[in-house]
Amino acid sequence: MGKKPVVIGVAGGSGSGKTSVAKAIYEHFQGHSILMLEQDYYYKDQSHLPFEERLKTNYDHPLAFDNDLLIEHLHKLLNYEPIEKPVYDYTLHTRANEVIYVEPKDVIILEGILVLEDERLRNLMDIKVYVDTDADIRIIRRLLRDINERGRTLESVIDQYVNVVRPMHNQFIEPTKRYADIIIPEGGHNHVAIDLMVTKIRTILEQKSFL
Ligand code: CTP
Repeated sequence: MGKKPVVIGVAGGSGSGKTSVAKAIYEHFQGHSILMLEQDYYYKDQSHLPFEERLKTNYDHPLAFDNDLLIEHLHKLLNYEPIEKPVYDYTLHTRANEVIYVEPKDVIILEGILVLEDERLRNLMDIKVYVDTDADIRIIRRLLRDINERGRTLESVIDQYVNVVRPMHNQFIEPTKRYADIIIPEGGHNHVAIDLMVTKIRTILEQKSFL
């Protein structure tokens, strides 16, 4: 049996700090063989729909994601084959034309709101993490980010949060906390939790004779 890369799943609500946790882990392993895979990049292609229709899509429902493609890509990376990762455009609400060529690595960090929701994804993970941040902090972060980086208005962010993000979080995201091996309060600012994670990943890498 050949070696298989280590997969770390990082889930949590929108604005919880998943990206910070994933980046903090990534930076600890700078110089090693590590890559990041974002579930957001695997939103279903909606280029066949008019823009107005794309605005109405529920982006917080499990069916919004092309998990089949994500799983196919994960299997390839686990077999040390490269992938062509899709690129997602938040302003146009659909997949961009370009793809990113990604070389396989020994450690894969898979980050996204619903990565713990799909049993097929969970079964491919060595460590399952849930970033648990209070809803008030999450909405503040989301407001700033969506207005500054994703071209949204204050009204649209609030409307989407109340009518879609919040109910979907309670129905689909929060319940996946039960699958986590580790629950990290307050995301990337939790240095103790990040250090524990890094130590555990190192142990797994040593066991698999990667280090
Ligand atoms: N989303 C959106 N419009 C789209 C596609 C997705 O508003 N066209 C939103 C969804 O509503 C979903 C969010 O994007 O709630 C997912 O990204 P999020 O988890 O907020 O971003 P990350 O940076 O990955 O996470 P974190 O803030 O935890 O670092």
